[in-house]
Amino acid sequence: MSAVTALTVSGLFLLLLLLLPQAALARWACVRACPSSCTCTQERSCSVLCDRSALAELPKEFPCEASSINVDKNSLKFLSERAFGTLPSLRSLSLDHNNISFITPGAFKGLPNLVDLTLAHNEYISYLHTRTFQGLKKLVRVDMSDCNLFNIPDRIFLEQMALREVRCFQNHFRRIPGAFRDMVNLTHIYLEKNKIEAVAYNSLLGLSNLRYLNLEDNRIKVIHDQSFQDLQRLENFNINDNRLVVLPEDPFKGLTRLKMLNLGGNLLTNVTKTWFSDLVELEVLYLDRNRLLSIEEGSFENLTSLITLHLNSNNLTALPFPVFQPVYFLGRLFLFKNPWECGCSLEWLKEWMESYQLVRNIPCASPSSVAGLDLGEVVFARANGSCVDPPELNATATASTAVPSTTENRFNSLVSRLLQSELQEETGNLTEGFRNDTLLDPEGALLSMAGQGRAGRAHVRLLVAGFLLSLSACSEISFRVFGT
Ligand SMILES: *[C@@H]1O[C@H](CO)[C@@H](O)[C@H](O)[C@H]1NC(C)=O
Ligand SMILES: *[C@@H]1O[C@H](CO)[C@@H](O)[C@H](O)[C@H]1NC(C)=O
Ligand SMILES: *[C@@H]1O[C@H](CO)[C@@H](O)[C@H](O)[C@H]1NC(C)=O
Ligand SMILES: *[C@@H]1O[C@H](CO)[C@@H](O)[C@H](O)[C@H]1NC(C)=O
Ligand SMILES: *[C@@H]1O[C@H](CO)[C@@H](O)[C@H](O)[C@H]1NC(C)=O
Ligand SMILES: *[C@@H]1O[C@H](CO)[C@@H](O)[C@H](O)[C@H]1NC(C)=O
Ligand SMILES: *[C@@H]1O[C@H](CO)[C@@H](O)[C@H](O)[C@H]1NC(C)=O
Ligand SMILES: *[C@@H]1O[C@H](CO)[C@@H](O)[C@H](O)[C@H]1NC(C)=O
Ligand SMILES: *[C@@H]1O[C@H](CO)[C@@H](O)[C@H](O)[C@H]1NC(C)=O
Repeated sequence: MSAVTALTVSGLFLLLLLLLPQAALARWACVRACPSSCTCTQERSCSVLCDRSALAELPKEFPCEASSINVDKNSLKFLSERAFGTLPSLRSLSLDHNNISFITPGAFKGLPNLVDLTLAHNEYISYLHTRTFQGLKKLVRVDMSDCNLFNIPDRIFLEQMALREVRCFQNHFRRIPGAFRDMVNLTHIYLEKNKIEAVAYNSLLGLSNLRYLNLEDNRIKVIHDQSFQDLQRLENFNINDNRLVVLPEDPFKGLTRLKMLNLGGNLLTNVTKTWFSDLVELEVLYLDRNRLLSIEEGSFENLTSLITLHLNSNNLTALPFPVFQPVYFLGRLFLFKNPWECGCSLEWLKEWMESYQLVRNIPCASPSSVAGLDLGEVVFARANGSCVDPPELNATATASTAVPSTTENRFNSLVSRLLQSELQEETGNLTEGFRNDTLLDPEGALLSMAGQGRAGRAHVRLLVAGFLLSLSACSEISFRVFGT
């Protein structure tokens, strides 16, 4: 090839470069500068894929146009200062499943537009320096789950004003890191499977935009009064599977947006009237797997949006009807695995079940004459019109004398009378409305009710319709509401 031809070719090439639009040039550069152990794709942006490549060290250089880099599942041990050089377009960086044990302060300097950073599953990171995230001013999400962290420095997020989501589950934290305090932009905090022992009054101060908080599966014994007072936007809160024996007087004060609260798997014994007083939007409440002995009347009185209530696997013997007053609500009620005392005080519940052919799955533990039966199978005796508790059996007594049979009292109780009178007035429309629900909810028993009236108003209006149910694995009674 002559010198002239060579000149012409390179000239044409240059011309071509000049004619290409800027974006196309960038794409071309992305592939051209791709590190040898990685694949680079240029669709829309420049993605650099270096996962599962047995890398012990980072490539020397990344394409300067890189918008996302994935180095998951390698054997990186260490990140040096400016480990990635200067990559002004980088928005997403993933370093999951490596063997990183040390991150030099300033490792991410040079990544001013990084939005997502994940460092999860690096089981030898036990320490992070205050300046670990220096320069990451646009960071929105960071994932440090399943590392070996015992804490993070209080000032580690000093520059991360835009941070919204922090995932730190499965580490060894013994307290909620002070680093979260006053981060008003945080919406999601994941701290499940740590070793947190208490929630202090100042642990969660200033988190006024938090929507999601997960403290599940820790060792929390103590919640200080007003610990959650700033979380006015909280919608989902898991604090199940901890060691709570008691709660403060008014633990969830001000959490008027809360939709789901999980207190299951703790050691609570008594539900107190004040606990849920502000939770007017709560739809799902878990109190299962505690040691509940009693529920104070009025405890659920302000839960006007409640759809599902889990009370199974507790030590409950009784469930006074007024616990549910005024009844606005309820789709599903889970009561199985409790030592129910099937005396007259549960007759109202039996009548709900019986009148509407509901699932028979509230097993009786006492009195002994009915132990082992389901509440639905217990027949209450009458004397002068009032219910008589099934007797305790002496060794010589027999079950047949203990269980008199009567069915004429089916609608005797206040509840049933209300149910019946309302039925006459309103069945027409309700049953119509219900057919669809029944179809949508084939396994659930439908006892539908709409309660009207605020606390203290005597008039409780119950509307009932729908009769379909079938046995389901869990004992549950379902009912559904129409307005308030
Ligand atoms: C990971 O790092 C730790 C300590 O830094 C070392 O003991 C271990 O052998 C490393 N594992 C692998 C698979 O490289
Ligand atoms: C919240 O984020 C916005 C926008 O990213 C930012 O301007 C603001 O300073 C942040 N506020 C705080 C307190 O971090
Ligand atoms: C819970 O209630 C039971 C029975 O009402 C009572 O004996 C017990 O002292 C209460 N326990 C607590 C911790 O309040
Ligand atoms: C229900 O809410 C009202 C009005 O906010 C309040 O006065 C009452 O104490 C609450 N009830 C309970 C049981 O906390
Ligand atoms: C609650 O029930 C469990 C298991 O059924 C039992 O071991 C425990 O003694 C009960 N606790 C109380 C306070 O009744
Ligand atoms: C019914 O009540 C009356 C008066 O209270 C009493 O004399 C009578 O013995 C009672 N009958 C039964 C079957 O208990
Ligand atoms: C059952 O036994 C108790 C004492 O153990 C006795 O007072 C009671 O009268 C007995 N009841 C019956 C029905 O035999
Ligand atoms: C059924 O409801 C509609 C409004 O939804 C009402 O106009 C009608 O009168 C109701 N019918 C009966 C029988 O209650
Ligand atoms: C039942 O659902 C169907 C479609 O899913 C709808 O067209 C119909 O209006 C519904 N009927 C009632 C009574 O809600």
